[in-house]
Amino acid sequence: MIKVGIDLIHFYTPQVYLDLAELAAVRQVPVEKYTVGIGQEKMSLIDPYEDIVTMAAEAAYDIVKGREENIGLLLFATESGVDYSKSAGVYLHALLQLNPHCRVLEVKQACFAATGALLLAKDYVTLHPDKLALVVASDVAWYGLNTPGEVTQGAGAVAMIVSVNPRLAVIEEGKAIVENSKDFYRPSYNQVPIVDGKLSIRSYKELLKQVRPDKPLKFVCFHMPFATMSDKASEVLTLPLSPEILMATKAFNKDVGNIYNGSLYLSLISLLTTYPNSLANETIGMFSYGSGATGETFYLIMQPQYDKVIDKKVFLSLVNQRRKADFSTYERLMTGYEHREKSLNFTTTIPNSKHRFVLTSIVNGHREYLKR
Ligand code: CAA
Repeated sequence: MIKVGIDLIHFYTPQVYLDLAELAAVRQVPVEKYTVGIGQEKMSLIDPYEDIVTMAAEAAYDIVKGREENIGLLLFATESGVDYSKSAGVYLHALLQLNPHCRVLEVKQACFAATGALLLAKDYVTLHPDKLALVVASDVAWYGLNTPGEVTQGAGAVAMIVSVNPRLAVIEEGKAIVENSKDFYRPSYNQVPIVDGKLSIRSYKELLKQVRPDKPLKFVCFHMPFATMSDKASEVLTLPLSPEILMATKAFNKDVGNIYNGSLYLSLISLLTTYPNSLANETIGMFSYGSGATGETFYLIMQPQYDKVIDKKVFLSLVNQRRKADFSTYERLMTGYEHREKSLNFTTTIPNSKHRFVLTSIVNGHREYLKR
């Protein structure tokens, strides 16, 4: 039987964050509601010269380098799309200088799209074992100022290379589930989602109940819109996770915030980076949830040399070396983001920073990028 799975994984999150203690003070909410009840400490904020394409490019660049010609499929999963027709994947394809004969698509189903894409990529590679697939999840979770969802925002991207005989993890399929729900949706004319938060939590748990692993597993990662959602999900398992493992799955997410499609995979990266023992040959259960609503469970069989293909120091520095913004910077960045996303023409100031990919302008609705 041919083994297919994740050969390489990387992520990116904007390098500026808001401390949620500051948000709590301004909103006059006890800070423990955010840090204990919701479990979040910080959230990444998108800079004016970044968007879902630049974040995806930053996440993918290092793992794609040298493999450009072999990538036959690029799937770009997002629910913060910038164009109803042109796939964000086409912009990304150009920035990464991939093979011109690559098949490129944008994939949508709320936060589940990346998982759907990953499992479709697995099928593609099974049929085309000499090819690689690139799956990218990139989102800006933006609910609007002073909304219940405000504390569960964030921004970031995760990129994965899918191949035969993967070095990181073999994928084994589980079970999918779909149920029409009104928990969270964003009509095309709205900039922010329409959310019934309590219903979304009930819907998440209900779908998990229907596809949860039959047998107890030591390791499970969950889609994580906010950190204590994982505690609630763990309680739905036949045997809840140990507090130590749960903490390792949440370490990055509690400081980055919700990154929608990438959240489940950021939780995986968090576990791989912060769990003190080796995960070689372990099975990790994965539960993906996308409002609307779809869910799926699948399994990752960690490969013996998995830790040779990840750089924990780089992962830790992406989360720990961001600069802190004050509340007024947060307001300015997010209102600026909202304004830019509805602008037909826009020019950014090119930053003097380490960013390899920069959104320079929007010209008649078309995005222009700089690679440096
Ligand atoms: N000290 C400690 N805990 C406190 C507290 C305090 N002073 N005050 C409140 N809390 C606790 C509450 O008891 C509650 O805990 P439980 O959930 O265990 O009951 C928790 O903090 C949150 O409090 P509320 O329920 O009162 O918070 P809220 O009404 O402001 O809404 C939310 C919270 C529903 C998560 C809201 O932020 C929201 O709508 N977020 C966006 C939607 C979302 O993330 N849904 C998740 C599932 S959908 C999904 O997964 C897709 C996706 O990515 C969005």
